[in-house]
Amino acid sequence: MAIYYQEENRIFQLHTKRSTYLIGMTPEGYVGHIYYGERLFQRADHYLLRMGEIPFTPSVNKREKLSFLDSFPMEYPTGGIGDFRESCLNVKNEKGQMGSELFYVSHRIYEGKEKLADLPASFGNGEEVQTLEIVLEDGILNLQAVLSYSVFEKEDVIARSVRIVNRGKETLRLEKVFSACLDMDNEAFEMINLCGSWARERHIQRGAVRYGKQAVSSLRGESGHQEHPFMALVTPGTDQQQGKVYAMHFVYSGNFLAQVEMNQFDSVRMVMGINPEQFDWVLSPGEDFQAPEVILTYSGEGLGRMSRNFHDFYRSHMIRSIYNHKKRPILINNWEATYFKFDHEKLLEIAREAKKCGIEMLVMDDGWFGKRNTDDNSLGDWVVNEEKLKGGLKKLVDQVNEIGLEFGIWFEPEMVSPDSDLYRAHPDWALQIDKREGTMGRNQYVLDLSRADVVDYVYESVAKILRSANIRYVKWDMNRFLTDLGSARLDAAHHGELFHRYVLGVYELQERLVREFPELLLENCASGGGRFDPGMLYYSPQIWCSDDTDAIERLMIQEGTGLIYPLAAMGAHVSDCPNHIVGRITPFETRGYVALAGTFGYELDITKLPDEQREMICEQTKMYHKYNDLVREGDYYRIASYRENHKFDAWAVASKDKREVLMTYVQVLAEPNKRSRKIYLQGFDKEALYLLEGTKQVYSGEMLMYAGFLIEPMEGDFVSRPYHFVKKESDDR
Ligand code: GLA
Repeated sequence: MAIYYQEENRIFQLHTKRSTYLIGMTPEGYVGHIYYGERLFQRADHYLLRMGEIPFTPSVNKREKLSFLDSFPMEYPTGGIGDFRESCLNVKNEKGQMGSELFYVSHRIYEGKEKLADLPASFGNGEEVQTLEIVLEDGILNLQAVLSYSVFEKEDVIARSVRIVNRGKETLRLEKVFSACLDMDNEAFEMINLCGSWARERHIQRGAVRYGKQAVSSLRGESGHQEHPFMALVTPGTDQQQGKVYAMHFVYSGNFLAQVEMNQFDSVRMVMGINPEQFDWVLSPGEDFQAPEVILTYSGEGLGRMSRNFHDFYRSHMIRSIYNHKKRPILINNWEATYFKFDHEKLLEIAREAKKCGIEMLVMDDGWFGKRNTDDNSLGDWVVNEEKLKGGLKKLVDQVNEIGLEFGIWFEPEMVSPDSDLYRAHPDWALQIDKREGTMGRNQYVLDLSRADVVDYVYESVAKILRSANIRYVKWDMNRFLTDLGSARLDAAHHGELFHRYVLGVYELQERLVREFPELLLENCASGGGRFDPGMLYYSPQIWCSDDTDAIERLMIQEGTGLIYPLAAMGAHVSDCPNHIVGRITPFETRGYVALAGTFGYELDITKLPDEQREMICEQTKMYHKYNDLVREGDYYRIASYRENHKFDAWAVASKDKREVLMTYVQVLAEPNKRSRKIYLQGFDKEALYLLEGTKQVYSGEMLMYAGFLIEPMEGDFVSRPYHFVKKESDDR
């Protein structure tokens, strides 16, 4: 049993395979955090709540309640009453007075996990997950907070969320509803987060936690390229194999805040939730508000274990697509090949050449609809441009299918161009503030997806195209941030709901899409990797990582992404050189090996490639088929980081049964007069022997991991090599 309630001292024990989470209670019913960390097996105690130490416990000494509230390790802190650290819940009553206080009322423990209304969330059956719901109540406001903890034993994950219920007669205003909080004593923590920009998304950053607050956040209406809804606290010296890691990841695709705060008593509060800035929500009597889910994991074995916990968890309990455990078709996308300049014939030419090299799908990117030959028009007019695609879409798709390729298509459904029939007919469908000229981003406005009529229109225009031909894949793009937060439909009282309602609109659209087209392979995208988050994974098994397809830039992007996401979720393609973003020239092989660590595909004009590169594509597509099961389903190990050493990069994927390990090594910069480089591998069975494929060399797993492996010197910059180790069965030793 993963969850156990210790009646005699009112402690909730939540156990995963390798971790334990303890929740306790004071005599008054304040619910506090006792412990999170290594798995415990014996009776739990609540001395860590320090109730005796603080002589101010309100039932004993009301006089100093303030001191109690400002130091007690709260499981779900509220604002306005006396806890001056970051609160998780700020509520105003009808008079505009802010303050709430929550006390334990009841709890229930059940097998499985219920769905979260209108939101993406993890799932699992009664054998995989058990859920604890603790109901807290503010008797003055008649408000309840239902704290939910779903314990996934095998993956060492606790999924947390909160539902706020207005059970009174007053209309309440929620100004902040976070989803999770972790109050811990400081252990000289360092914070790890992911940051970047367009074309350099999700680079890893690490630094000491100091007094005060450090936050990562988004106010862009999407999770963003710049910061990521992820935060980990680690003890000093934590590396891939050792150290304590406490990590939170937010299942949400809009504005977020993740924050760590160290206070006067050296306690650390880590919180995560919807960004409270520009958020408020009217909660009328009888209504409830569901806050999105936070995925929480603890690793006592460094960052590698954390990554593998997240990977296993997302593969088993977040991604719903039928493609989750399947090879995805190797695709060729025409964006970097042609940009807007293509027609029916050009696409067929690409398809014919692609087929010869083992590519399995053609994806037609931006530019096929309305009169779109540049990026300043036609978004919203999802009607095929028959000047480009003579004879229409179905004809093209059928011909591509005849060549032997599947067909995929690009949409940017959430947007409208000022120069479009849609905008001319419905200018009020765009987000806008009265009398104010809208701020354009990539020449476009954002549709008001808080409106049901707009959601319906958008859905039908996408679905109509998908129903019209044999389309097997959709790239769902989103190429600007949200501004001008005005909706023609929301009144003044509800305008603070717009950002969140927008995200709910996106989720509704994608939910409808995956329901009507369950066999569609959906890839989310937002100017590259601007909306790469677990919320999107619930709808699409893969997300385009970055518009930067340069193999060397991708090392850092994919290292940061792979820190949390399974490799098969990372959209990665081989593109042309000089690279269109950085102008770098890298060997075709290296571009292939780096893309093979993701979904794999091409983004180039194959009709213009020299023969030897086309031959390499044939080799690479074979490699994809050889290795994809391993890459998609295996355990990921980060061996070396170019970001840290500025010279080389290496990662490995081991099959769950450790029968094979594929290690990829990239020498970024050549160095003169060096001996072979020793690196320490991971992921092997230490009692087994392995043959390095392509050689006669046999290694023991323990030597590769503990004594090291030698990388023979390579010549040149940006060169790389895969090393495939296959376990020798005992009788062929
Ligand atoms: C975004 C995407 C690209 C491409 C273009 C098309 O930038 O990230 O891959 O689809 O839009 O306009």
